[in-house]
Amino acid sequence: MISEQEYKSRRDALVETLSKNSVAVVFSATYKTRSNDTEYPYRQNSNFYYLTGFKEENSILVFIRKKKKTKTVLFVQKKDKTIELWTGKKEGVKKAKKRFLVDEVFLVDDFTTKLKEYLADVKHLYFDFKQDDTDIRTLKEHTKDIYSYKNIAKPISMMRLIKSEAEIKLIKKAISITKDAHHRVMMMDKLGKNEMHIQAELEYVFKKNMAYSDAYTSIIAGGNSANTLHYISNNKPLVDGELILIDAGCEYDYYASDITRTIPVNGKFTKVQKEIYNLVLEVEEKIISMVEPDVLRSDLHKKSEKLLVDGMVKLGILKGKTKKIIKKQKHKKYYPHGIGHWMGLDVHDEAPYKDAKGKEIALKEGMVLTIEPALYFDKDDKYIPKEYRGIGIRIEDDIVVTKDGFENLSVDISKTILGIESLS
Ligand code: GLY
Ligand code: MN
Ligand code: MN
Repeated sequence: MISEQEYKSRRDALVETLSKNSVAVVFSATYKTRSNDTEYPYRQNSNFYYLTGFKEENSILVFIRKKKKTKTVLFVQKKDKTIELWTGKKEGVKKAKKRFLVDEVFLVDDFTTKLKEYLADVKHLYFDFKQDDTDIRTLKEHTKDIYSYKNIAKPISMMRLIKSEAEIKLIKKAISITKDAHHRVMMMDKLGKNEMHIQAELEYVFKKNMAYSDAYTSIIAGGNSANTLHYISNNKPLVDGELILIDAGCEYDYYASDITRTIPVNGKFTKVQKEIYNLVLEVEEKIISMVEPDVLRSDLHKKSEKLLVDGMVKLGILKGKTKKIIKKQKHKKYYPHGIGHWMGLDVHDEAPYKDAKGKEIALKEGMVLTIEPALYFDKDDKYIPKEYRGIGIRIEDDIVVTKDGFENLSVDISKTILGIESLS
């Protein structure tokens, strides 16, 4: 749980970053149509949620920063009996005033009138440049004389880089549910099953543990499908003797987990699968051990490239000197993505990789990132020894940077060959 005080501290910190004589508007998410008149499950906009913890649609947070004074206002929906009959109880102005530590609460119906008032004498208007067009149009209609438009997502995302203790606790909870899900799949008899059955087992564990949803569409890729990076059809029969790459993590109270394990369908790795698996695992462990304050993510990536290429040369998959292979990018088709990404309210957390001057942001205590090296050998790749073709392996853990190093938040999710085989 994030306290109301923590949400207030975030808002106070954000206001400090705003230019004097500015207004900032942060909208809630809107419903998205799934088909005809049905909608996707509603999920609050991460930035709005980060600043309020409020899950209701049709709400707006506004900051007014004049020369000396600042004010925070929340706009919420009306408590309307007919609407509530269809879509459930709303917080309403009265309750919202008690709950949120903001200066004022008004009905969302009054937003445009109030906005005009706030905008008098203001020079800058902040809003999220990725906001839905209709919301942006509303703002622009009322701001013809505004001096400049600025992206509110920027200062928010900078704040979201560093997680608080309460946030890390929620990420840990998400990961512990995800652990149960991956272990359930490791333990089940997978012979004769379909990839979708694996997805069903994972989602059963997520929901049973009150995780609202998956944090992203699970990738359940049997055999060669692991070599399609965003494979999400998850509908092929599993094949005895092949591996399954499972990239799946739940979202718990808006916080993500992002875990990949690659396991054998029949519970036992073959000799060849073990060779690649242990290479990826060794690299993953090595890179995780390098995580500490002041390290650059790009250096972690470079090191992972070097180690994976060294390993591939040793196995006869690539020929030549590691340095030259990397210079010529010959390894790219086998390891085409980065070492990892920020994670938090979004699985690929909306937090910057570079500072305002374009300089890479180094790791700092409280940042959470994934480490996910991989090797992908397509079944039709004629350039590699036959026995490796059709194998795709990724191993992914979620790491928090600590004062002196790191904590692997997903260390309890089995990943050694012995660990996986003994659960099977
Ligand atoms: N599951 C998405 C990723 O690993 O980045
Ligand atoms: Mn990831
Ligand atoms: Mn992943």
